[in-house]
Amino acid sequence: MVKICCIGAGYVGGPTMAVIALKCPEIQVAVVDIASARINAWNSDHLPIYEPGLDDVVKQCRGKNLHFSTDVEKHVAEADIVFVSVNTPTKTQGLGAGKAADLTYWESAARMIGDVSKSDKIVVEKSTVPVKTAEAIEKILTHNRKGINFTILSNPEFLAEGTAIKDLYNPDRVLIGGRETPEGAKAIQTLRDVYAHWVPIDKILCTNLWSAELSKLAANAFLAQRISSVNAMSALCEATGADVSQVSHAIGTDSRIGPKFLNASVGFGGSCFQKDILNLVYICECNGLPEVATYWKQVIKVNDYQKTRFVNRVVSSMFNTVSGKKIAILGFAFKKDTGDTRETPAIDVCKKFDWDHPAHLQPSSPTSIKTVSVVWDAYEATKDAHGICIMTEWDEFKKLDYQKVYDNMQKPAFVFDGRNIVEVEKLRKIGFIVYSIGKPL
Ligand code: NAD
Ligand code: UGA
Repeated sequence: MVKICCIGAGYVGGPTMAVIALKCPEIQVAVVDIASARINAWNSDHLPIYEPGLDDVVKQCRGKNLHFSTDVEKHVAEADIVFVSVNTPTKTQGLGAGKAADLTYWESAARMIGDVSKSDKIVVEKSTVPVKTAEAIEKILTHNRKGINFTILSNPEFLAEGTAIKDLYNPDRVLIGGRETPEGAKAIQTLRDVYAHWVPIDKILCTNLWSAELSKLAANAFLAQRISSVNAMSALCEATGADVSQVSHAIGTDSRIGPKFLNASVGFGGSCFQKDILNLVYICECNGLPEVATYWKQVIKVNDYQKTRFVNRVVSSMFNTVSGKKIAILGFAFKKDTGDTRETPAIDVCKKFDWDHPAHLQPSSPTSIKTVSVVWDAYEATKDAHGICIMTEWDEFKKLDYQKVYDNMQKPAFVFDGRNIVEVEKLRKIGFIVYSIGKPL
Protein backbone atom coordinates (compact mmCIF):
# COMPACT_ATOMS: atom_id res chain seq x y z
CA MET A 1 0.00 0.00 0.00
CA VAL A 2 1.33 3.41 -0.99
CA LYS A 3 1.45 6.11 1.68
CA ILE A 4 1.34 9.72 0.61
CA CYS A 5 2.30 12.76 2.64
CA CYS A 6 1.80 16.34 1.42
CA ILE A 7 3.76 19.17 3.05
CA GLY A 8 1.65 22.35 2.89
CA ALA A 9 -2.10 22.35 3.65
CA GLY A 10 -2.95 25.38 1.52
CA TYR A 11 -5.13 26.11 -1.51
CA VAL A 12 -3.29 23.43 -3.49
CA GLY A 13 -2.25 20.85 -0.89
CA GLY A 14 -5.68 20.59 0.78
CA PRO A 15 -7.97 20.14 -2.25
CA THR A 16 -5.45 18.08 -4.27
CA MET A 17 -4.88 15.57 -1.51
CA ALA A 18 -8.59 15.40 -0.64
CA VAL A 19 -9.34 14.37 -4.23
CA ILE A 20 -6.49 11.82 -4.30
CA ALA A 21 -7.85 10.34 -1.06
CA LEU A 22 -11.38 10.19 -2.49
CA LYS A 23 -10.34 8.57 -5.75
CA CYS A 24 -7.78 6.17 -4.23
CA PRO A 25 -9.42 4.63 -1.14
CA GLU A 26 -6.56 2.17 -0.64
CA ILE A 27 -3.98 4.97 -0.33
CA GLN A 28 -3.38 6.65 3.05
CA VAL A 29 -2.99 10.41 2.60
CA ALA A 30 -1.61 12.74 5.28
CA VAL A 31 -1.57 16.51 4.77
CA VAL A 32 0.84 18.25 7.12
CA ASP A 33 1.59 21.88 7.87
CA ILE A 34 3.52 23.92 10.40
CA ALA A 35 0.55 26.31 10.73
CA SER A 36 -1.45 24.69 13.50
CA ALA A 37 -4.44 27.05 13.06
CA ARG A 38 -4.76 25.88 9.47
CA ILE A 39 -4.58 22.21 10.42
CA ASN A 40 -7.16 22.74 13.17
CA ALA A 41 -9.46 24.35 10.60
CA TRP A 42 -9.01 21.40 8.19
CA ASN A 43 -10.06 19.14 11.07
CA SER A 44 -13.13 21.26 11.89
CA ASP A 45 -16.48 22.02 10.24
CA HIS A 46 -15.08 25.33 8.95
CA LEU A 47 -12.39 24.52 6.41
CA PRO A 48 -9.67 27.16 6.04
CA ILE A 49 -10.49 27.81 2.39
CA TYR A 50 -13.75 28.31 0.52
CA GLU A 51 -13.97 26.16 -2.59
CA PRO A 52 -17.22 24.81 -4.08
CA GLY A 53 -17.55 21.05 -3.48
CA LEU A 54 -14.53 20.83 -1.16
CA ASP A 55 -16.49 20.31 2.09
CA ASP A 56 -18.18 17.30 0.62
CA VAL A 57 -14.94 15.63 -0.53
CA VAL A 58 -13.23 16.24 2.81
CA LYS A 59 -16.21 14.93 4.78
CA GLN A 60 -16.19 11.70 2.78
CA CYS A 61 -12.52 10.88 3.47
CA ARG A 62 -11.38 12.67 6.61
CA GLY A 63 -10.55 10.25 9.42
CA LYS A 64 -10.59 7.32 6.94
CA ASN A 65 -7.72 7.67 4.48
CA LEU A 66 -7.28 11.45 4.73
CA HIS A 67 -5.60 13.01 7.77
CA PHE A 68 -4.54 16.56 8.55
CA SER A 69 -1.71 16.89 11.06
CA THR A 70 1.02 19.14 12.42
CA ASP A 71 3.24 16.13 13.06
CA VAL A 72 5.19 16.84 9.90
CA GLU A 73 8.23 14.67 10.60
CA LYS A 74 6.30 11.52 11.53
CA HIS A 75 4.17 11.55 8.38
CA VAL A 76 7.09 12.39 6.11
CA ALA A 77 9.15 9.55 7.61
CA GLU A 78 6.31 7.06 7.00
CA ALA A 79 5.49 8.13 3.42
CA ASP A 80 6.52 6.54 0.12
CA ILE A 81 5.59 9.65 -1.86
CA VAL A 82 6.09 13.14 -0.40
CA PHE A 83 4.39 16.01 -2.22
CA VAL A 84 5.78 19.44 -1.42
CA SER A 85 3.12 22.10 -1.84
CA VAL A 86 4.50 24.95 0.22
CA ASN A 87 4.22 28.60 -0.81
CA THR A 88 6.82 30.02 -3.21
CA PRO A 89 6.22 33.79 -3.08
CA THR A 90 8.26 36.51 -4.80
CA LYS A 91 11.45 37.41 -2.92
CA THR A 92 11.11 40.71 -1.14
CA GLN A 93 14.78 41.30 -0.38
CA GLY A 94 18.27 40.29 -1.42
CA LEU A 95 19.36 38.91 -4.78
CA GLY A 96 16.47 38.93 -7.25
CA ALA A 97 14.16 40.87 -4.88
CA GLY A 98 10.83 41.71 -6.52
CA LYS A 99 11.20 39.00 -9.16
CA ALA A 100 12.82 35.72 -8.14
CA ALA A 101 10.86 33.03 -6.31
CA ASP A 102 11.61 32.77 -2.61
CA LEU A 103 12.46 29.11 -2.07
CA THR A 104 13.06 29.39 1.69
CA TYR A 105 10.01 27.28 2.55
CA TRP A 106 10.88 24.72 -0.11
CA GLU A 107 14.47 24.42 1.04
CA SER A 108 13.50 23.99 4.67
CA ALA A 109 10.98 21.29 3.70
CA ALA A 110 13.64 19.50 1.62
CA ARG A 111 16.20 19.61 4.44
CA MET A 112 13.61 18.21 6.83
CA ILE A 113 12.76 15.36 4.41
CA GLY A 114 16.49 14.55 4.17
CA ASP A 115 16.86 14.58 7.94
CA VAL A 116 13.90 12.44 8.96
CA SER A 117 13.77 9.86 6.14
CA LYS A 118 14.66 6.28 6.92
CA SER A 119 13.35 4.72 3.69
CA ASP A 120 13.45 5.47 -0.05
CA LYS A 121 11.09 8.21 -1.19
CA ILE A 122 9.68 9.87 -4.26
CA VAL A 123 9.68 13.62 -3.66
CA VAL A 124 7.19 15.50 -5.81
CA GLU A 125 7.38 19.21 -6.62
CA LYS A 126 3.77 20.32 -6.45
CA SER A 127 4.54 23.98 -5.77
CA THR A 128 5.32 26.19 -8.75
CA VAL A 129 9.09 26.56 -8.81
CA PRO A 130 11.78 28.01 -11.09
CA VAL A 131 13.05 25.68 -13.79
CA LYS A 132 16.04 23.66 -12.48
CA THR A 133 14.78 23.66 -8.87
CA ALA A 134 14.77 19.86 -8.89
CA GLU A 135 18.54 19.94 -9.34
CA ALA A 136 18.95 22.02 -6.16
CA ILE A 137 16.52 19.79 -4.25
CA GLU A 138 18.42 16.69 -5.35
CA LYS A 139 21.63 18.22 -3.99
CA ILE A 140 20.02 18.97 -0.64
CA LEU A 141 18.44 15.52 -0.32
CA THR A 142 21.39 13.45 -1.46
CA HIS A 143 23.88 15.47 0.59
CA ASN A 144 22.80 13.71 3.78
CA ARG A 145 22.42 10.40 2.06
CA LYS A 146 22.56 7.55 4.68
CA GLY A 147 21.94 5.02 1.90
CA ILE A 148 18.45 6.30 1.15
CA ASN A 149 17.32 6.91 -2.44
CA PHE A 150 15.33 10.03 -3.23
CA THR A 151 13.78 10.39 -6.68
CA ILE A 152 12.51 13.85 -7.60
CA LEU A 153 9.49 14.40 -9.82
CA SER A 154 7.90 17.61 -11.03
CA ASN A 155 4.11 17.44 -10.98
CA PRO A 156 2.88 21.04 -11.25
CA GLU A 157 -0.71 21.83 -10.38
CA PHE A 158 -3.01 23.54 -12.89
CA LEU A 159 -6.20 23.94 -10.82
CA ALA A 160 -7.82 27.36 -10.66
CA GLU A 161 -9.41 28.63 -7.47
CA GLY A 162 -13.19 28.62 -7.45
CA THR A 163 -13.22 25.55 -9.73
CA ALA A 164 -10.51 23.51 -7.97
CA ILE A 165 -12.58 20.38 -7.36
CA LYS A 166 -13.97 20.36 -10.89
CA ASP A 167 -10.47 20.90 -12.28
CA LEU A 168 -9.03 18.09 -10.14
CA TYR A 169 -11.81 15.66 -11.14
CA ASN A 170 -11.45 16.46 -14.85
CA PRO A 171 -8.02 17.92 -15.52
CA ASP A 172 -7.12 18.96 -19.08
CA ARG A 173 -3.90 17.10 -18.34
CA VAL A 174 -1.71 15.89 -15.51
CA LEU A 175 1.96 16.62 -16.09
CA ILE A 176 4.72 14.47 -14.59
CA GLY A 177 8.38 15.23 -15.22
CA GLY A 178 11.25 13.04 -14.11
CA ARG A 179 14.83 12.11 -14.79
CA GLU A 180 15.38 10.01 -17.90
CA THR A 181 16.92 7.16 -15.88
CA PRO A 182 15.50 3.77 -14.81
CA GLU A 183 14.79 5.17 -11.30
CA GLY A 184 13.17 8.26 -12.81
CA ALA A 185 10.97 6.14 -15.10
CA LYS A 186 9.92 3.90 -12.18
CA ALA A 187 8.99 6.91 -10.05
CA ILE A 188 6.99 8.42 -12.93
CA GLN A 189 5.12 5.12 -13.28
CA THR A 190 4.30 5.06 -9.55
CA LEU A 191 2.82 8.56 -9.62
CA ARG A 192 1.08 7.85 -12.90
CA ASP A 193 -0.63 4.86 -11.26
CA VAL A 194 -2.03 7.15 -8.57
CA TYR A 195 -3.61 9.56 -11.09
CA ALA A 196 -4.72 6.70 -13.34
CA HIS A 197 -7.36 5.87 -10.69
CA TRP A 198 -9.51 8.58 -12.29
CA VAL A 199 -7.59 10.45 -15.02
CA PRO A 200 -7.62 8.90 -18.54
CA ILE A 201 -4.13 7.68 -19.30
CA ASP A 202 -3.81 9.77 -22.47
CA LYS A 203 -4.24 12.88 -20.33
CA ILE A 204 -1.24 12.01 -18.16
CA LEU A 205 1.73 13.61 -19.88
CA CYS A 206 5.24 12.50 -18.99
CA THR A 207 8.26 14.69 -19.76
CA ASN A 208 11.73 15.41 -18.50
CA LEU A 209 12.05 17.39 -15.27
CA TRP A 210 12.89 20.74 -16.81
CA SER A 211 10.05 20.64 -19.34
CA ALA A 212 7.55 19.99 -16.56
CA GLU A 213 8.91 22.79 -14.37
CA LEU A 214 8.99 25.28 -17.25
CA SER A 215 5.58 24.25 -18.64
CA LYS A 216 3.90 25.42 -15.44
CA LEU A 217 5.45 28.89 -15.68
CA ALA A 218 4.73 28.98 -19.42
CA ALA A 219 1.06 28.01 -18.95
CA ASN A 220 0.45 30.79 -16.43
CA ALA A 221 2.33 33.30 -18.58
CA PHE A 222 0.24 32.39 -21.65
CA LEU A 223 -3.04 32.63 -19.69
CA ALA A 224 -2.13 35.99 -18.19
CA GLN A 225 -0.92 37.20 -21.58
CA ARG A 226 -4.37 36.58 -23.06
CA ILE A 227 -5.96 38.71 -20.35
CA SER A 228 -3.47 41.54 -20.87
CA SER A 229 -4.03 41.30 -24.62
CA VAL A 230 -7.80 41.65 -24.29
CA ASN A 231 -7.40 44.38 -21.66
CA ALA A 232 -5.10 46.29 -24.01
CA MET A 233 -7.83 45.95 -26.66
CA SER A 234 -10.40 47.23 -24.17
CA ALA A 235 -8.56 50.57 -24.00
CA LEU A 236 -8.65 50.79 -27.78
CA CYS A 237 -12.34 49.85 -27.80
CA GLU A 238 -13.14 52.74 -25.48
CA ALA A 239 -11.20 55.12 -27.71
CA THR A 240 -12.91 53.97 -30.90
CA GLY A 241 -16.46 52.96 -30.01
CA ALA A 242 -15.88 49.24 -30.49
CA ASP A 243 -17.28 46.92 -27.79
CA VAL A 244 -14.71 44.58 -26.23
CA SER A 245 -17.27 41.81 -25.59
CA GLN A 246 -18.13 41.78 -29.28
CA VAL A 247 -14.46 41.83 -30.24
CA SER A 248 -13.68 38.96 -27.79
CA HIS A 249 -16.53 36.92 -29.18
CA ALA A 250 -15.50 37.62 -32.76
CA ILE A 251 -11.87 36.59 -32.23
CA GLY A 252 -12.69 33.74 -29.83
CA THR A 253 -14.76 31.91 -32.44
CA ASP A 254 -11.57 31.37 -34.44
CA SER A 255 -10.72 27.84 -33.36
CA ARG A 256 -7.03 28.74 -33.37
CA ILE A 257 -7.67 31.41 -30.73
CA GLY A 258 -10.53 29.87 -28.71
CA PRO A 259 -13.08 31.61 -26.47
CA LYS A 260 -11.62 31.17 -22.99
CA PHE A 261 -9.72 33.76 -20.97
CA LEU A 262 -10.83 36.64 -23.16
CA ASN A 263 -12.93 38.51 -20.58
CA ALA A 264 -11.74 42.08 -20.24
CA SER A 265 -11.48 43.12 -16.61
CA VAL A 266 -10.03 45.60 -14.18
CA GLY A 267 -6.94 43.38 -14.34
CA PHE A 268 -5.96 39.91 -13.29
CA GLY A 269 -5.19 39.17 -9.65
CA GLY A 270 -4.47 36.15 -7.48
CA SER A 271 -1.38 34.82 -5.82
CA CYS A 272 0.18 33.27 -8.91
CA PHE A 273 0.01 35.03 -12.29
CA GLN A 274 2.15 38.02 -11.36
CA LYS A 275 4.53 36.00 -9.16
CA ASP A 276 5.07 33.34 -11.81
CA ILE A 277 5.64 35.83 -14.64
CA LEU A 278 8.13 37.77 -12.51
CA ASN A 279 9.84 34.47 -11.82
CA LEU A 280 9.93 33.72 -15.56
CA VAL A 281 11.32 37.19 -16.27
CA TYR A 282 14.07 36.65 -13.70
CA ILE A 283 14.99 33.27 -15.17
CA CYS A 284 15.21 34.83 -18.66
CA GLU A 285 17.44 37.61 -17.34
CA CYS A 286 19.68 35.12 -15.54
CA ASN A 287 20.00 33.14 -18.77
CA GLY A 288 21.07 36.21 -20.77
CA LEU A 289 17.74 36.65 -22.58
CA PRO A 290 16.76 40.29 -21.89
CA GLU A 291 14.48 40.55 -24.94
CA VAL A 292 12.45 37.54 -23.81
CA ALA A 293 12.30 38.97 -20.30
CA THR A 294 11.01 42.32 -21.62
CA TYR A 295 8.35 40.57 -23.67
CA TRP A 296 6.84 38.85 -20.61
CA LYS A 297 7.31 41.86 -18.33
CA GLN A 298 4.94 43.75 -20.62
CA VAL A 299 2.08 41.42 -19.56
CA ILE A 300 2.40 42.76 -16.02
CA LYS A 301 2.85 46.36 -17.18
CA VAL A 302 -0.43 46.20 -19.12
CA ASN A 303 -2.13 44.70 -16.08
CA ASP A 304 -0.90 47.59 -13.90
CA TYR A 305 -1.96 50.03 -16.60
CA GLN A 306 -5.46 48.55 -16.65
CA LYS A 307 -5.91 49.00 -12.89
CA THR A 308 -4.61 52.59 -13.07
CA ARG A 309 -6.82 53.30 -16.07
CA PHE A 310 -9.86 52.07 -14.14
CA VAL A 311 -9.12 54.27 -11.13
CA ASN A 312 -8.44 57.30 -13.33
CA ARG A 313 -11.78 56.75 -15.05
CA VAL A 314 -13.59 56.64 -11.70
CA VAL A 315 -11.91 59.74 -10.35
CA SER A 316 -12.21 61.79 -13.55
CA SER A 317 -15.89 60.84 -13.97
CA MET A 318 -16.67 61.85 -10.42
CA PHE A 319 -15.60 65.44 -11.11
CA ASN A 320 -11.91 64.75 -10.64
CA THR A 321 -11.98 63.85 -6.97
CA VAL A 322 -13.27 61.12 -4.70
CA SER A 323 -12.38 63.05 -1.58
CA GLY A 324 -15.22 62.95 0.94
CA LYS A 325 -17.27 60.63 -1.27
CA LYS A 326 -18.52 57.17 -0.44
CA ILE A 327 -17.56 54.48 -2.93
CA ALA A 328 -19.05 51.02 -2.60
CA ILE A 329 -16.61 48.28 -3.62
CA LEU A 330 -18.63 45.24 -4.62
CA GLY A 331 -16.47 42.17 -4.16
CA PHE A 332 -12.97 41.93 -2.76
CA ALA A 333 -11.82 38.40 -3.77
CA PHE A 334 -9.61 38.21 -6.87
CA LYS A 335 -12.34 36.22 -8.68
CA LYS A 336 -15.73 34.73 -7.85
CA ASP A 337 -16.27 31.54 -5.85
CA THR A 338 -13.19 31.95 -3.69
CA GLY A 339 -12.50 33.72 -0.42
CA ASP A 340 -8.91 34.38 -1.53
CA THR A 341 -7.93 38.05 -1.61
CA ARG A 342 -4.21 37.59 -2.28
CA GLU A 343 -3.09 40.15 -4.90
CA THR A 344 -6.69 41.04 -5.64
CA PRO A 345 -7.07 44.05 -7.97
CA ALA A 346 -9.53 45.46 -5.41
CA ILE A 347 -6.61 46.17 -3.06
CA ASP A 348 -4.74 48.20 -5.68
CA VAL A 349 -7.86 50.07 -6.67
CA CYS A 350 -8.67 50.99 -3.04
CA LYS A 351 -5.08 52.08 -2.42
CA LYS A 352 -5.15 54.31 -5.48
CA PHE A 353 -8.39 55.95 -4.30
CA ASP A 354 -6.67 56.65 -1.05
CA TRP A 355 -3.86 58.49 -2.89
CA ASP A 356 -6.42 60.72 -4.56
CA HIS A 357 -7.64 61.73 -1.12
CA PRO A 358 -6.26 65.24 -0.44
CA ALA A 359 -5.95 64.27 3.20
CA HIS A 360 -2.70 62.60 2.23
CA LEU A 361 -1.29 66.03 1.69
CA GLN A 362 -2.39 67.08 5.16
CA PRO A 363 -1.59 64.12 7.36
CA SER A 364 -2.60 65.84 10.55
CA SER A 365 -6.08 66.86 9.44
CA PRO A 366 -9.01 64.82 10.79
CA THR A 367 -9.93 63.75 7.26
CA SER A 368 -6.73 61.72 7.03
CA ILE A 369 -8.41 58.90 8.93
CA LYS A 370 -8.78 56.03 6.47
CA THR A 371 -12.46 55.30 6.14
CA VAL A 372 -12.75 51.78 4.90
CA SER A 373 -15.46 49.61 6.37
CA VAL A 374 -16.59 46.13 5.44
CA VAL A 375 -20.21 45.00 5.30
CA TRP A 376 -21.86 41.75 4.23
CA ASP A 377 -24.75 43.21 2.33
CA ALA A 378 -24.50 44.94 -1.07
CA TYR A 379 -27.56 47.14 -0.34
CA GLU A 380 -25.97 48.37 2.87
CA ALA A 381 -22.66 48.99 1.10
CA THR A 382 -24.30 51.06 -1.63
CA LYS A 383 -26.60 53.09 0.66
CA ASP A 384 -25.75 56.81 0.35
CA ALA A 385 -22.79 55.96 -1.90
CA HIS A 386 -21.79 58.29 -4.73
CA GLY A 387 -20.40 55.49 -6.84
CA ILE A 388 -20.17 51.70 -7.10
CA CYS A 389 -17.10 49.80 -8.29
CA ILE A 390 -17.73 46.16 -9.19
CA MET A 391 -14.46 44.37 -8.47
CA THR A 392 -15.49 40.68 -8.41
CA GLU A 393 -17.91 38.96 -10.77
CA TRP A 394 -19.98 37.26 -8.03
CA ASP A 395 -23.36 36.10 -9.41
CA GLU A 396 -25.04 38.00 -6.57
CA PHE A 397 -24.05 41.32 -8.14
CA LYS A 398 -25.70 40.40 -11.44
CA LYS A 399 -29.00 39.84 -9.69
CA LEU A 400 -29.18 42.95 -7.48
CA ASP A 401 -32.31 45.10 -7.60
CA TYR A 402 -30.51 48.05 -9.18
CA GLN A 403 -33.58 50.29 -8.96
CA LYS A 404 -33.52 49.86 -5.18
CA VAL A 405 -29.75 50.47 -5.18
CA TYR A 406 -30.20 53.64 -7.25
CA ASP A 407 -32.98 54.99 -5.04
CA ASN A 408 -30.74 54.81 -1.96
CA MET A 409 -27.63 56.38 -3.54
CA GLN A 410 -26.45 59.99 -3.83
CA LYS A 411 -27.09 61.54 -7.24
CA PRO A 412 -25.67 61.50 -9.81
CA ALA A 413 -25.16 57.79 -9.14
CA PHE A 414 -22.22 56.12 -10.87
CA VAL A 415 -21.52 52.45 -11.63
CA PHE A 416 -18.01 51.44 -12.68
CA ASP A 417 -18.18 47.83 -13.75
CA GLY A 418 -14.69 46.29 -13.56
CA ARG A 419 -16.00 42.89 -14.68
CA ASN A 420 -18.58 43.71 -17.34
CA ILE A 421 -21.40 41.89 -15.56
CA VAL A 422 -24.17 44.50 -15.46
CA GLU A 423 -26.69 45.24 -18.20
CA VAL A 424 -25.50 48.69 -19.19
CA GLU A 425 -28.65 49.85 -21.00
CA LYS A 426 -30.94 48.70 -18.20
CA LEU A 427 -28.89 50.59 -15.62
CA ARG A 428 -28.72 53.71 -17.77
CA LYS A 429 -32.51 53.64 -18.08
CA ILE A 430 -32.75 53.61 -14.27
CA GLY A 431 -30.62 56.74 -14.21
CA PHE A 432 -27.12 55.49 -13.46
CA ILE A 433 -24.05 56.86 -15.20
CA VAL A 434 -22.35 53.63 -16.25
CA TYR A 435 -18.77 52.87 -17.20
CA SER A 436 -18.02 49.33 -18.33
CA ILE A 437 -14.53 48.19 -19.32
CA GLY A 438 -14.06 48.39 -23.09
CA LYS A 439 -17.64 49.49 -23.88
CA PRO A 440 -18.88 52.66 -25.54
CA LEU A 441 -19.46 55.40 -22.97
P1 NAD B 1 -0.66 28.49 0.58
O1 NAD B 1 0.09 29.65 1.14
O2 NAD B 1 -2.14 28.48 0.62
O3 NAD B 1 -0.17 27.14 1.31
C1 NAD B 1 1.15 26.82 1.58
C2 NAD B 1 1.23 26.16 2.96
O4 NAD B 1 2.55 25.64 3.17
C3 NAD B 1 0.97 27.11 4.14
O5 NAD B 1 -0.15 26.66 4.88
C4 NAD B 1 2.27 27.08 4.95
O6 NAD B 1 2.06 27.15 6.36
C5 NAD B 1 2.84 25.72 4.55
N1 NAD B 1 4.28 25.60 4.77
C6 NAD B 1 5.28 26.47 4.39
N2 NAD B 1 6.47 25.97 4.74
C7 NAD B 1 6.26 24.78 5.35
C8 NAD B 1 7.11 23.78 5.93
N3 NAD B 1 8.43 23.93 5.90
N4 NAD B 1 6.55 22.68 6.48
C9 NAD B 1 5.21 22.54 6.49
N5 NAD B 1 4.34 23.43 5.96
C10 NAD B 1 4.86 24.54 5.39
O7 NAD B 1 -0.14 28.32 -0.91
P2 NAD B 1 -0.95 27.69 -2.16
O8 NAD B 1 -1.85 28.71 -2.74
O9 NAD B 1 -1.49 26.36 -1.78
O10 NAD B 1 0.25 27.50 -3.19
C11 NAD B 1 1.26 26.53 -2.99
C12 NAD B 1 2.08 26.39 -4.24
O11 NAD B 1 1.25 25.92 -5.31
C13 NAD B 1 2.70 27.70 -4.74
O12 NAD B 1 3.95 27.40 -5.30
C14 NAD B 1 1.75 28.14 -5.83
O13 NAD B 1 2.39 28.92 -6.82
C15 NAD B 1 1.30 26.83 -6.43
N6 NAD B 1 -0.04 26.86 -7.05
C16 NAD B 1 -1.07 27.51 -6.45
C17 NAD B 1 -2.35 27.48 -7.02
C18 NAD B 1 -3.52 28.18 -6.40
O14 NAD B 1 -4.58 28.19 -6.99
N7 NAD B 1 -3.40 28.77 -5.20
C19 NAD B 1 -2.56 26.73 -8.19
C20 NAD B 1 -1.47 26.06 -8.78
C21 NAD B 1 -0.22 26.13 -8.18
C1 UGA C 1 -4.61 30.43 -12.43
C2 UGA C 1 -4.63 29.43 -13.59
O1 UGA C 1 -5.87 29.56 -14.28
C3 UGA C 1 -4.46 28.00 -13.08
O2 UGA C 1 -4.39 27.10 -14.18
C4 UGA C 1 -3.18 27.92 -12.26
O3 UGA C 1 -3.03 26.62 -11.72
C5 UGA C 1 -3.23 28.92 -11.14
O4 UGA C 1 -3.40 30.26 -11.70
C6 UGA C 1 -1.97 28.99 -10.34
O5 UGA C 1 -0.92 28.59 -10.80
O6 UGA C 1 -2.09 29.51 -9.22
P1 UGA C 1 -6.36 31.26 -10.62
O7 UGA C 1 -5.38 32.38 -10.43
O8 UGA C 1 -6.83 30.53 -9.43
O9 UGA C 1 -5.74 30.17 -11.61
O10 UGA C 1 -7.66 31.82 -11.37
P2 UGA C 1 -7.94 32.27 -12.88
O11 UGA C 1 -9.27 31.79 -13.26
O12 UGA C 1 -6.82 31.95 -13.78
O13 UGA C 1 -8.04 33.86 -12.74
C7 UGA C 1 -6.89 34.65 -12.48
C8 UGA C 1 -7.25 36.12 -12.59
O14 UGA C 1 -7.51 36.47 -13.95
C9 UGA C 1 -8.51 36.51 -11.82
O15 UGA C 1 -8.33 37.77 -11.22
C10 UGA C 1 -9.58 36.57 -12.90
O16 UGA C 1 -10.64 37.40 -12.58
C11 UGA C 1 -8.77 37.10 -14.06
N1 UGA C 1 -9.35 36.80 -15.39
C12 UGA C 1 -9.51 35.52 -15.78
C13 UGA C 1 -9.72 37.84 -16.23
O17 UGA C 1 -9.58 39.03 -15.88
N2 UGA C 1 -10.25 37.54 -17.46
C14 UGA C 1 -10.41 36.26 -17.88
O18 UGA C 1 -10.88 36.06 -19.03
C15 UGA C 1 -10.03 35.22 -17.02
